[in-house]
Amino acid sequence: MKNTDNFTTMTQPPHVANFNQQFCDDVLTGLQASPKYMQAKYFYDAAGDELFQKIMNCEEYYPTDCELEIFTEQTEAVAQALIADGSPFDLIELGAGDAMKSTHLLRCLQQKQADFTYMPIDISGHVINLLNDTLPKALPGLQLNGLTGEYFDMLKKAANLSDRRKVVLFMGSNIGNMPVPEAEEFCKELRRHLSINDSVLIGIDLKKNPKTILAAYNDKEGFTRDFNLNLLKRINRELEANFDLTQFEHYPMYDPETGSCKSYLVSLTDQEVHLCDTTVQFHKDEYIFMEVSQKYTVQQTDQMATQAGFTPVQHFMDSKGWFLDAVWQVSQ
Ligand code: AVJ
Repeated sequence: MKNTDNFTTMTQPPHVANFNQQFCDDVLTGLQASPKYMQAKYFYDAAGDELFQKIMNCEEYYPTDCELEIFTEQTEAVAQALIADGSPFDLIELGAGDAMKSTHLLRCLQQKQADFTYMPIDISGHVINLLNDTLPKALPGLQLNGLTGEYFDMLKKAANLSDRRKVVLFMGSNIGNMPVPEAEEFCKELRRHLSINDSVLIGIDLKKNPKTILAAYNDKEGFTRDFNLNLLKRINRELEANFDLTQFEHYPMYDPETGSCKSYLVSLTDQEVHLCDTTVQFHKDEYIFMEVSQKYTVQQTDQMATQAGFTPVQHFMDSKGWFLDAVWQVSQ
């Protein structure tokens, strides 16, 4: 066996631009756990953003198209659900991204002369700067207040900025990235940050034919595979690691019973990887659990809402019935 001392004595932190200690700690924690895992939020570096765009545009990945259909075909009804009693509100979007889907809704709310401020929240300052730049041009007269930071920190901040009614948008089935118990806890925490009369519009991918779901995470052009491998590439670059990308294989699976769609990277050989002063061993066929994309039935989402202290008041679905945007009101 190879002597690993020359690696463990290497000076740290590595001499790389934008070295991030938190990233390093999180990756090491995941790779030293059994089974090994990664945190999905780290997929989205510049290359990851680009690959996710390609996933959203590929034939097999249906969730984006389904939710866009809801936002373009049922805009009026969705807008009306948020306007509710007509009182002024703050429209807070968690993880706004390029706000492509929300723009339809914002335009409709403006046409209906709703009194609201749009507050997109994103962890990426880059995203918020871009929205601050483009949205006022696309939607003249829009009251806009973008916030950069963690969801719940920024929700607190938004609550301090005004005492208006809050409507939270959480779209794109981002909740799917949480295992069920974590998603339940997230909904409870969301409820704790809101008050009576506040509401949520949440996008959730539904259970459907297992082949349709699996194909969405196993596209034939290999964008999903590359999206997963890109995280190893990112670790190589930002943490000076030495993953051999040819020695890991993407393995997606969907279990119709639990509704969880999971991605793994499987080691094709016994191998060692070095990063952040540490050596990580892989056995042949050992896997890294990369990501879960949880699917629900409509009833399960209603239950999750109720358990968290919300009342599900409206269901918007695409014509195929594959995706749900649900309106949840804080329970009295
Ligand atoms: C951004 C979490 C909604 O789980 O469908 C897509 C991410 N990963 N293909 C999803 C993703 C691989 C996506 N979410």
